[in-house]
Amino acid sequence: MTRQGSVQRTTIDGQRVLENRLFDTRHLSEDLARPLSAEDMTVQAMEDASPTKWHLAHVTWFLETFILAKHLPGYRVFDETFNYCFNSYYESQGARQPRPKRGLLTRPSSERVFAYRTHVDEGLTNLFARGVEPNSETARLLEIGINHEQQHQELLLTDILALFAASPLRPVYRARRPHTVQPEPAALGWVDLPGGIAKVGHAGEGFAWDNEAPRHDALVHPFRLADRLVTNGEWLEFMAAEGYRTAAHWLADGWAAINREGWEAPLYWEKQDGQWLAMSLEGLQPVELAAPVCHVSYYEADAFARWAGKRLPTEFEWEIAARGVPVTGKTPADGALRPLPAQAPDGSPRQMFGAVWQWTQSAYLPYPGYRPPAGALGEYNGKFMVSQQILRGGSCATPPGHTRATYRNFFYPHQRWQFMGLRLAAEIT
Ligand SMILES: [Fe+2]
Repeated sequence: MTRQGSVQRTTIDGQRVLENRLFDTRHLSEDLARPLSAEDMTVQAMEDASPTKWHLAHVTWFLETFILAKHLPGYRVFDETFNYCFNSYYESQGARQPRPKRGLLTRPSSERVFAYRTHVDEGLTNLFARGVEPNSETARLLEIGINHEQQHQELLLTDILALFAASPLRPVYRARRPHTVQPEPAALGWVDLPGGIAKVGHAGEGFAWDNEAPRHDALVHPFRLADRLVTNGEWLEFMAAEGYRTAAHWLADGWAAINREGWEAPLYWEKQDGQWLAMSLEGLQPVELAAPVCHVSYYEADAFARWAGKRLPTEFEWEIAARGVPVTGKTPADGALRPLPAQAPDGSPRQMFGAVWQWTQSAYLPYPGYRPPAGALGEYNGKFMVSQQILRGGSCATPPGHTRATYRNFFYPHQRWQFMGLRLAAEIT
């Protein structure tokens, strides 16, 4: 093959990989919606959550607005009214349905949203038929479109859990698949890491969000990191020790939050006949002692760490410890939809990926030299860099290939409806 021929071949292969990943992602969203009725897809459980129908339409609007309308000549917008309905927070794209009222969108119907998806998928097929150069602006936007839809796949699942947990019927999204219940948690060990000036943040090949860069130096003191996550069994010890009733463990905002909200256990826990149960996508189940605690706020994670005489890691400590750890996890279409217990110790940190997002003590701030990208997508991450905490890792609901050691997730400290948990850190003394 000539050099020109080889370059052409690489271009075609690169385009095919991108196209396959895009359509695999599009199909996974529809697979995740399949167990749901039209009514399930319409209702909004709370202000932070969105209806499934809205997620399915919003990710489609994103592809239409930022890619097809600009980069596919002759593309016809499916419905001009959808910009108002399915714009999330892009000021540059104009007025939108208020977030707390997304559940009032009984129109368009689910059928019409699926027709919208088909229309946009046809546009994307036409875009690829015209040719997409691997390093072009269009390819870059398509990569963002894939990663954006993956983020909403996780949100779709956590928002359905919020909805089903609010139902008196406690519906099962997907029946629990047989697995061995591990009665005792795997032993807890510690990984000691040296201090120094470390390079952190993303650089080089592969996709990353703008908020993961620039790569820069961070000063880290010697520290130790728990080699597994905090378990439900350990959380029950915290509860039994009056953890939720002892002000000394709590940040002031956290103490105010638990008293205002009446929290005395993780979200979705309920006591029946003296036994703690937890609502999950697999229905209402006994709390599994060896499994990681999940659905706790930053305030609760921080209080637990203080009670345990430890602390939460910083995001850079977490990132340094995660280097070289393989990113594991199953697609939400195949794997368990709850965090599973840790395997036996193997000398490296376990459960870094694929169980729960892990709260860190780091505030969500820009890295030195960070500038939001120019254009509408500059609104994606940068404008949220205030009053939120960083979580690292990835959960049982994170699509494979979506996360990495430098990934920065972020939520407000009171939020707990995501798959959120913690691992402990400590100084080396
Ligand atoms: Fe979005």
